Amino acid sequence: MREPSQRVSKAPKSAIRELFDLALGRSDVISLGIGQPDFTTPEPAIQGNINALKNKITMYAPTRGVPELLELLEKKVNTFNKINANWRDNIIVTNGGSQAITLAFATIFNPGDELIISSPNFLSYFYCALFFGVKVVEVERNKNFSPNIEKIRNSITSKTKAILINSPNNPTGHVLNQTELKKIVEIIIENDLYLITDEVYENYIYDGLKHVSPASLNGMFERTITVNAMSKSFSATGFRIGYAVASKEIIDLMEKFHQYTVAGTNHAAQYGFIEALKMGINFFEEIYQSFDKRRNLVYIRLKEIGFDLVKPHGAFYVMPSTKNFNLTGKEFSQKLMKEQAVAVVPGGVFGSFSDHMIRISYATEIEKIKEAMNRIEKFIHKI
Ligand SMILES: Cc1ncc(COP(=O)(O)O)c(C=O)c1O
Repeated sequence: MREPSQRVSKAPKSAIRELFDLALGRSDVISLGIGQPDFTTPEPAIQGNINALKNKITMYAPTRGVPELLELLEKKVNTFNKINANWRDNIIVTNGGSQAITLAFATIFNPGDELIISSPNFLSYFYCALFFGVKVVEVERNKNFSPNIEKIRNSITSKTKAILINSPNNPTGHVLNQTELKKIVEIIIENDLYLITDEVYENYIYDGLKHVSPASLNGMFERTITVNAMSKSFSATGFRIGYAVASKEIIDLMEKFHQYTVAGTNHAAQYGFIEALKMGINFFEEIYQSFDKRRNLVYIRLKEIGFDLVKPHGAFYVMPSTKNFNLTGKEFSQKLMKEQAVAVVPGGVFGSFSDHMIRISYATEIEKIKEAMNRIEKFIHKI
């Protein structure tokens, strides 16, 4: 047979999957590997979806999304994100945040273009880049996981097309502060670049910090592609609903790519998102408090156990170093799974600078987190 696609073949099988293979057939496993919240999807979202199906909303959706949903999204991004977007020109509904990322890659890059990313970072960016022939320039984060602004500036070449940020960040939990964001924006404007900003964790921000959408800043709307989703805010990862906000030029291109590759987004699920958006975000307060409590618990316990780690300010992950135990993240996660049945993700999957780290998700019940921490402590004592 002739050789299949080199670009797709190059992407490794998921290391997270490999780890879960070790867990097969074991009922005692506690997973701190998951990237989805554990609360139930709010009932209005579920009913919205069900009612749409009952009303025979089973045909193709309009390519950019259901107008009522787009209008609600306009209101949400205008008020919450302070982005001056218009639903007719600047928003498209996608199959999760993942497809909004794909659309961003499809519409701004040509093969050979370069994209600057702080590393470690969310793994889909690396593989989207591979699939679209984009060269990722990884810039190692500072020790506290803030972006290394000087290195970012020095990494710009004539081929640089964009910088991608994800704040609050998966996997580090870093939240960009105003100064960091301002400096990134300066670099973008000075060098005539695009900014891709993945804001799927915008509601998971702690310690009184505030989420700022770069598209709301002066001179940034036209050059920013904002990626967002229903998935994390409404605990609805299976709905596969997200959206992108950008200039008319980019959204028009996205519509074409969307039309010819996926022919639209799940029609009935969009009605679920409509009902979710109508609820507003007040329902989230209790959930938020619970995540904050878990964050503090995990941080304190990992410190007590002897890890070096940065306290996360956002999302629901923490990324401790495994150096104190003379193990790579991969060795640590495999041994921990075999010996104590706790799943954590090896840091190496998130880029070239995190081999000696693990990612722990605290998006699980507090009692399970406590038990997992006790097991990790036992594991460390035996090393
Ligand atoms: C940073 C980040 N962006 C995007 C996504 C994808 O979200 P969705 O499930 O809406 O496709 C995830 C999922 O884990 C994520 O962590």
